[in-house]
Amino acid sequence: MMKFHILTLFPKMVQQGLATSILGRAAEKNLISIDAVNIRDYTQDKHGKVDDYTYGGGAGMLMQAQPVYDAYRSVAGEKKIRCVYLTPQGAPFTQKKARELSGEEELVLLCGHYEGIDERVLEEVVTDYISIGDYVLTGGELAAMVVVDAVARLVPGVLNNDESAETESFHNDLLEYPQYSRPEEWHGKKVPEVLLSGNHKKINAWRLEQSERRTEERRPDLYAKYQEKQKVIKKLSAKKRIFIHMMETLSRGLGEILYAEGKNVLIYLPE
Ligand code: ADE
Repeated sequence: MMKFHILTLFPKMVQQGLATSILGRAAEKNLISIDAVNIRDYTQDKHGKVDDYTYGGGAGMLMQAQPVYDAYRSVAGEKKIRCVYLTPQGAPFTQKKARELSGEEELVLLCGHYEGIDERVLEEVVTDYISIGDYVLTGGELAAMVVVDAVARLVPGVLNNDESAETESFHNDLLEYPQYSRPEEWHGKKVPEVLLSGNHKKINAWRLEQSERRTEERRPDLYAKYQEKQKVIKKLSAKKRIFIHMMETLSRGLGEILYAEGKNVLIYLPE
């Protein structure tokens, strides 16, 4: 079971947001647990205050170190649990990061509000600074929900087999191809002929082509990466042919080793 602890000033928001659909089912099956910890419950201020003005001036209030620290300690005790702080000042969240975090047994997600959190407590508890994109939200809660969702679906058993096929969709740097269901014609638009052909070789080729066109159009950054990778793959497969040719020539007693040291081999290949 993977445990998520979300430190927040709005526990209901994350608790309700993550209790539905696939994650709700996963929690019922004890594959994951999600608990929301109200940071305000840990303030030592008698009026329940958790924020104050910033030293050096500037607009807005800052969440103070003490309640955040005590909220973290309430879940971690003396243990060290990986702690993600959601902030626009973090590293971009990716599928790779989701995969990495899904290997943890327990995860703390810290949600900031106002202008952020006192740096000193971040230094003591935060292990990962994550942003879900280059825009500013009113608080870290929505970002924490995004991270929990993306990580939890990678926990074994959370998705059923039908659903988990789509885990692969980001794998080779391409976007997913377009998909169609019944009816065969809708609003005068027909399902592409090839998908009705039953020829899976042709269908796969069509889907790859669609993925490539779509990625080039919508995500030129991903497409450039994909093209680079394809180039290297092509180069390596050309090398493989040369190696096989060299080995066959030698084993038939046709070629001659002119020089060999470590990984470097020079072979004479007769015409
Ligand atoms: N908090 C506010 N904006 C955010 C963002 N873009 N990513 C993560 N946390 C945030």
